[in-house]
Amino acid sequence: MACCHYFAPSEGGDEAFSIDASTITFGPGVLREAGDHAASMGIKRAALMTDKVMAGLEHLAVVKAALEGAGIDVVVYDEVRVEPTDESFMAATRFAQEGKFDGFISVGGGSVMDTTKAANLYSTYPAEFLTYVNPPIGGGQPVPGPLKPHIACPSTCGTGSECTGIAVFDLLAMRAKTGIVSRRLRPSMALVDPVCTHTLPKNVVAASAFDVLSHALESYTAVAYTRRKAPARPSLRPMSQGANPWSDLGCREALRVLGENLVRGVNDPVDTEAKGQLIWAATLAGIAFGNAGCHAPHGMSYSVSGMVRDFQPDGYPKAEAIVPHGMSVIVNSPAVFRFTAEACPERHLEAARWLGADIRGATARDAGEVLAGHLIQFMKSTDMPNGIGGVGYNRDDIPGLTEGSFPQRRLLDNAPRSIGKEELTKLYQDALAYW
Ligand SMILES: [Fe+2]
Repeated sequence: MACCHYFAPSEGGDEAFSIDASTITFGPGVLREAGDHAASMGIKRAALMTDKVMAGLEHLAVVKAALEGAGIDVVVYDEVRVEPTDESFMAATRFAQEGKFDGFISVGGGSVMDTTKAANLYSTYPAEFLTYVNPPIGGGQPVPGPLKPHIACPSTCGTGSECTGIAVFDLLAMRAKTGIVSRRLRPSMALVDPVCTHTLPKNVVAASAFDVLSHALESYTAVAYTRRKAPARPSLRPMSQGANPWSDLGCREALRVLGENLVRGVNDPVDTEAKGQLIWAATLAGIAFGNAGCHAPHGMSYSVSGMVRDFQPDGYPKAEAIVPHGMSVIVNSPAVFRFTAEACPERHLEAARWLGADIRGATARDAGEVLAGHLIQFMKSTDMPNGIGGVGYNRDDIPGLTEGSFPQRRLLDNAPRSIGKEELTKLYQDALAYW
């Protein structure tokens, strides 16, 4: 294995890693299997969760018909907010409580799946909202027991949420993104149907594909699990346990698939083969980051999306300003990989090579620039925003962005180099513009 010394033992470091396998069915047309799978899990009355856009599309109708065909009583909730908030999580929870459901089916992107995880959690184990939210913002209490069955049907080119126990939202009072993390939030099953990607708007494909790309890069370059402090008890080993041989497998193949298909899948509206490959890469990267954890590009993204003023990309609802999750991540990524390359240059060079970069003659000192340069090429050729300046921020915003992201220790501490306020400030400065 390349880089095996990356997992060399360290004083006080963990000596084991855990694998939480996701249950996934992948293939064209698998949405039609939803009814049979739900019935086999014992679901008799299902909450079918989606958003207003998906509610009018055929994919939702296919799933609803499949559930009803299996004799399941179905109630649709189409009020999920794109980029959800604590308020929208609680609105979905009220629906879930009042409906007395015994199972959940989500059809949509990361926002829909995350909202469903939260509605399942709070309707099953009611509590003050901040009880389960990540510290230091929330109490970080463990989820008390198993949740009700949840079948996740991702409809974008993938956030990977179908494979993870993470639900992310904007906490309105703090204007910051944070999340709830627990293995118990992981959907019972994912039905990944590449047909869902065929008709997505260009920017929606791009934002989710760049999210996936960063999941794979962050998981591969995360601190080694052997360099993270061993947990006080084995059962407390976090899902964000750092890079490990299992997550490496998913990252490598996701990066290779993305290198071949990302630009094609985003730019060519009729290249359904490439779009189908992007959702496969999303699944692979989801398996990886669900077992390794992301790091600084995601940590920094929370304030980039939370403090948005007036950015309104094509392909998204125009009612309010929004930096879609994948865009809020990728605008930070080149700056971060320039910074983290020093910690594990071979991993940065390997990642660039799988993405299709020519790394002949590149040395360890070039690693950050080679990977960042390749990412920037991808961003330019798919009309992504040019750094955080491209989504409306300037130098005066950097103190606020830094303050907003600094509490994201789960993510920042998973980076291979330590990141304090000074480093975070420099990373945002470098991310202002790339070209
Ligand atoms: Fe993400």
